Amino acid sequence: MPERKLRVRDTATDETYELGVKHSAIRALDIRPIKKDPDEFGMLSYDPGYTNTASCTSRITYIDGDKGILRYRGYPIEQLAENCSYTEVCYLLLYGELPTSSELTAWNREIVDHTMVHENMKKFLDGFRYDAHPMGMLISSVAAMSTYYPDSKNVQSRTNRRLQQLRLIGKVPTLAAYAYRHSRGLPFPQPDNEFSYSENFMNMLWRMTEARYQPNPTLARALDVLFILHADHEQNCSTSTMRTVGSSEADPYVSLSAACGALYGPLHGGANEAVLTMLDEIGTLDKIPRFIKEVKEGERRLMGFGHRVYKNYDPRAKIISEIAEQVFEVTGRNPKIELAKELERIALEDDYFVKRRLYPNVDFYSGIIYEAMGFKPEMFTVLFAIGRTVGWLAHWDELMEDPERRIARPRQLYLGPEEREFVPILERLGRMKHERS
Ligand code: ACO
Repeated sequence: MPERKLRVRDTATDETYELGVKHSAIRALDIRPIKKDPDEFGMLSYDPGYTNTASCTSRITYIDGDKGILRYRGYPIEQLAENCSYTEVCYLLLYGELPTSSELTAWNREIVDHTMVHENMKKFLDGFRYDAHPMGMLISSVAAMSTYYPDSKNVQSRTNRRLQQLRLIGKVPTLAAYAYRHSRGLPFPQPDNEFSYSENFMNMLWRMTEARYQPNPTLARALDVLFILHADHEQNCSTSTMRTVGSSEADPYVSLSAACGALYGPLHGGANEAVLTMLDEIGTLDKIPRFIKEVKEGERRLMGFGHRVYKNYDPRAKIISEIAEQVFEVTGRNPKIELAKELERIALEDDYFVKRRLYPNVDFYSGIIYEAMGFKPEMFTVLFAIGRTVGWLAHWDELMEDPERRIARPRQLYLGPEEREFVPILERLGRMKHERS
């Protein structure tokens, strides 16, 4: 039942329409009957970039961008980051409740059962050039897993979906670590299931000839928290891609590969890499004012700043800047932090940024921590993808269970030529010259 009604009068016909409002939204199809004459298609809403269009209902993540609030399944991100492991948060996102300790033990066991990849996958990754970008490798290898698991096409089955979720959460870090090792010409190690999720990832990244790799507990915890902070963020570009591809009932591997592709762009998850490139380019504190001037003149963007939803400080950026200090105690201080803090200070006092409500987002500080830990900037978006895998899967699952699910298929406003007659190729040059003159 609608909560209230919206009355709309069409000034062309003087007709009045009543649109039902539920959850503060009207149904876009309810405006279709608004027409000037009966042969018209009907009214559409126009929303490039979906700035004011809800494409689904969801019960996973809540954001209040004005207040800087982020909650997974109702729990504030600050509390989850402080108290949970990443796999605990995965369980919460997928099943809606925090696990009991026996549920968590069983869940961790199930994930580690799926950390190994098929031996052929190593040959597949070996086929990439030595300097291949690890995101390209991750996108391709996740899509390639579709060929190893043809059973994943059975997307209607909840049990089957659960198996594919475990496989993806288990294997994405393995593929990510192998992409990293390929670029360094290092052999691909087996996962070690005695480690926690993040420790095992570190082991696959950095293990050399030692009998047993010893992950640093502070760095392992920092990585776990970073994965938690990146785990979900409702209908962002990559999650919407996961839902769009998933809506055609494609298998989860190709859908998740497409989501990784969307994440790769510098306006989304690729921003963390772009921030480091930007800081390298600025170089020293005295160059900041000139850089800010260029941003204000529209010549470039301050990467890691601004967000479609947050018009306040991104709560994840706050937590990340605190983790940075803990990481630096182990790794030594990354000098880029001073540059980033000064950039932030100047930007937050500047009218240009204040007026547009531009604040640091999750990507502003994450790269500085990753770099201190020993990652090259090309790996930053891969790390984001590891954390976000569970969010993509939770949304995919929610979509598959949604009784209102339909294939994603937006409309367009066609502004091209009216019908015209075909011109044979030999007549085109003369005719076109004549038409254009
Ligand atoms: N630097 C300078 N100006 C900016 C920035 C920025 N980082 N972001 C937005 N603006 C300005 C725009 O120029 C525009 O100004 P105008 O009104 O004078 O034209 C205004 O702020 C609004 O910007 P839009 O691009 O319309 O905002 P939108 O919501 O479409 O874009 C986005 C959001 C893509 C995140 C944008 O802020 C941006 O490009 N930021 C830099 C890239 C980045 O950090 N992306 C990561 C986002 S977080 C994530 O995906 C994980």
